[in-house]
Amino acid sequence: MNLQSPPSNRANLKVLTRLRDFIKPYYFRILLAILALIIAAGATLMLPVAVRKIIDKGFLPAQTETINSYFLILSAIVLLIAVFAAIRFYLVMRLGERIVADIRTRVYQHVIRMEPQFFEITRTGEVLSRLTTDTTLVQTVVGAGFSVTLRSSIMLLGSLFMLAITSAQLTGLILILVPLVILPLLFFGRKVRRLSRATQDLIAESSAIAGETLNAVHMVQSFLLEGFFSHRFEQSVESSFDIALTRLKARALLSGFAILIIFSAIMGVIWIGAQLVIAGKMSIGELSQFLIYALIVATSTAALSEVWGDVQRAAGAMERLMELLNTQTTLPVPIKPVAIKHCITNPIHFDKVSFNYPSRPEQQALTDFTLTVSPGETVALVGPSGAGKSTVFQLLLRFYDPQQGKIILGDADISQTDIHLLREQIGIVPQETVIFAADVLENIHYGKLDAGNEDIYMAAQAAAADEFIQRLAEGYSTFLGERGTRLSGGQRQRIAIARAILKNPPILLLDEATSALDAESEQLVQEAMEKLMKSRTTLVIAHRLATVLKADRIVVMNHGKIIAIGKHQELLSQGGLYARLAALQFGEFYDNR
Ligand SMILES: Nc1ncnc2c1ncn2[C@@H]1O[C@H](COP(=O)(O)OP(=O)(O)OP(=O)(O)O)[C@@H](O)[C@H]1O
Ligand SMILES: [Mg+2]
Repeated sequence: MNLQSPPSNRANLKVLTRLRDFIKPYYFRILLAILALIIAAGATLMLPVAVRKIIDKGFLPAQTETINSYFLILSAIVLLIAVFAAIRFYLVMRLGERIVADIRTRVYQHVIRMEPQFFEITRTGEVLSRLTTDTTLVQTVVGAGFSVTLRSSIMLLGSLFMLAITSAQLTGLILILVPLVILPLLFFGRKVRRLSRATQDLIAESSAIAGETLNAVHMVQSFLLEGFFSHRFEQSVESSFDIALTRLKARALLSGFAILIIFSAIMGVIWIGAQLVIAGKMSIGELSQFLIYALIVATSTAALSEVWGDVQRAAGAMERLMELLNTQTTLPVPIKPVAIKHCITNPIHFDKVSFNYPSRPEQQALTDFTLTVSPGETVALVGPSGAGKSTVFQLLLRFYDPQQGKIILGDADISQTDIHLLREQIGIVPQETVIFAADVLENIHYGKLDAGNEDIYMAAQAAAADEFIQRLAEGYSTFLGERGTRLSGGQRQRIAIARAILKNPPILLLDEATSALDAESEQLVQEAMEKLMKSRTTLVIAHRLATVLKADRIVVMNHGKIIAIGKHQELLSQGGLYARLAALQFGEFYDNR
């Protein structure tokens, strides 16, 4: 699961074979593209022959007829090339766009389903960067790269063949030089891939920094951290620049080398060819034809060397994408999931649950936690910070599996049921409200995607949110800004409550906000919560006196353990942790003498 694994040193182009899965649906289109390509390339290969004929025959006196017909043929060939080159371009580039769109969607679909453990290790910026820059790199290969490779290979082979027919002697010279170009290509290619992977990793790091800090721009500015983070960002950008430079140098060297060899070969050919023409062993037309083919060989080889670099870069990018696609969730999926009824008559039973977060094996977050919540009951969890209250919610939602013990809903062990069935039953109002960059309607809508607008209005009314929403400039269509920055804390909470009301789940998890609201909002939020808790099984992490007073039972937790269960008055009279907490949090004074 660790995405930061160092790139392997072996030239590993195998990763590109994974593209096959993505290309498969489009085999027919590829066939068409190849067909267009062969026609265009074939026509291009005919050009030099026509040129030779024009030079050798056309310039003789009284041959106007012939030269005209040759030019006519030439024009036809040019038209053919133009039409089929355009068709090929469209088909191949479309393929590239299509496949990259598929990869992006597939990676997103995979990542959005990963459990929290994955995101504890992976920065979202890293994922974003892979979704955008890495897929774009892959696109260069699947689109243009694929096209250039095919075209250049066909042209290269075709030209070599035609060269051999024209002059075997001169072709021999060229063939000796080809390996001289290919070998360094292979050597440099490997280096390019490694460097490219490193650049991508660093770019990802800088987008991660940018993402995190832009998301917390208020905090950054109030602590005057702009300079600090700018510097950090710059450092990360600069190091990716440095690596990109090394890569560019390798490629520049490679290009120069290839050009040197190729043009030396051509000059050699011209020189030898000139001797042959002088000696009368070759016509000028033949030499011209030969030269054009030699030029095609040269440009095709150069194009292939360019593409080779791209292929290597894409392999680096593909590696990063495949790492994402290959990460598996650590929560085992039951082969035959047990059904749970969607109803409020299901009791919740925590049976000797012990759990530590995977990233913190040395510290138990819950120890021997045993609790049964009856249908319709409201149980309040109280305890100092870090006691494990939120952890109980995380486990009930099955974001993690406990190491020991089990959680039973109705009569099904939740690790044996379908995670969707489980989460359908549960509504959560988190401590920190999540608001998406959408309008009010849409934000509430996420509670239940198949709900109609009327249901949404009712949910908002029940959550005591309708009034403030109506007063917003555009009512329910008011855009809430990223993370709901345009709402107050209490308003955000009521949106979250409306969302949960809309979902209408049999089980409700409430994590009361610790942040103090003004008395009026507090009152409104409290009322909304009470409406929500009615006729549901509710687990509430309580920070307010009003909530604990309404609860059927209060569970006092400390260091991951249950230390007392009871009603407010009972617990208060026992003194101890609850009494202390009550004094601090609820402002409840008691006499402990
Ligand atoms: N994702 C995590 N990875 C590792 N440790 C975690 C993680 N989340 C919580 N913990 C640890 O588990 C313990 C219990 O945390 P939990 O969030 O359940 O506390 P809490 O009772 O909800 O506290 P608070 O009232 O402050 O919200 C804490 O020591 C915390 O540091
Ligand atoms: Mg908590």
